[in-house]
Amino acid sequence: PATSANLGPGFDVFGLALEYPADKVTLTASSEPGIRIRVKGLQAKTISTAPNRNTAGIVASHMSREFSLKTGLSIIIEKGIWPSKGLGSSAASASAVAVGLNEMFGLNLTLDKIVRLAAKGEVASAGSEHADNVSATVCGGFVVLRSYNPLSMVNLKAPADMDVSVAFPHMITPPHKTAIARSVLPHMIPIEHLVRNVGNAAAMVSGFAVGNVDLIGESMLDVVVEPARASLIPGFQRVKENALKAGACGVTISGAGPSMLAVVNRKKASAANVAEAMREGFRSAGYEATAFATRPGRGVSILESKKQ
Ligand code: HSE
Repeated sequence: PATSANLGPGFDVFGLALEYPADKVTLTASSEPGIRIRVKGLQAKTISTAPNRNTAGIVASHMSREFSLKTGLSIIIEKGIWPSKGLGSSAASASAVAVGLNEMFGLNLTLDKIVRLAAKGEVASAGSEHADNVSATVCGGFVVLRSYNPLSMVNLKAPADMDVSVAFPHMITPPHKTAIARSVLPHMIPIEHLVRNVGNAAAMVSGFAVGNVDLIGESMLDVVVEPARASLIPGFQRVKENALKAGACGVTISGAGPSMLAVVNRKKASAANVAEAMREGFRSAGYEATAFATRPGRGVSILESKKQ
């Protein structure tokens, strides 16, 4: 599944799995040594098929070495997730490989270990092993990465009446988009900003714990990362205002952007209408946009398993 990282105050800490969109990955063991990758689907041509430059290939190479998997491997990636939009596209393919190889070779790995392996792929796309997207892709629902070293996660279900709207502008994103979006972040922050972000992050986790969609949305406030990245997203302010006017209970940047994500209480507003309002926000800044409604979803699932 696609994922949205940060959710405002939880930079590199929060991740949410989405029901739609998703990638599909097929792994086949082969007697021919080495790793071969094919990429099909959305913007496939923009994704490297070199095993050392593709997030899925990096995870496969790493696992082959660590577990001495004495077989070649063919990886077919069908992209259903738009790459480079802040929707965890690279994390999804990488996680599928980690979960798939665990199943194929009966490795009996823990979820923590699978997340750590999948995070190795993030280096290729972001230049850092952040694990907020991969943990949500692997576990599903909402994930809090309490600590990176040692890895410690808390996994909560999303409330049944929580919907999500996503929109991204049709703009060309630079090749190292996430690394650039990380380079604009402040190295020092005032203590008041820490207090506000911790307050909102804690309230958001409470929202998931008690199933309160409004509290989740209202806590999606970030005074540290979002202000630094807002100028990278054309129409940011209008998209935000439009989503709130259409009934969203909170709006923020999805991961490193340029997608924006809104939380919607299904009992109070329509996520499709909010998505449309967000698209209009991008249009007002001169950009066509893709917008859709989705909801929190489960983690990577094995669709089919065949013996050759
Ligand atoms: N937490 C990461 C960031 C997610 O915001 O840079 C990037 O996919």
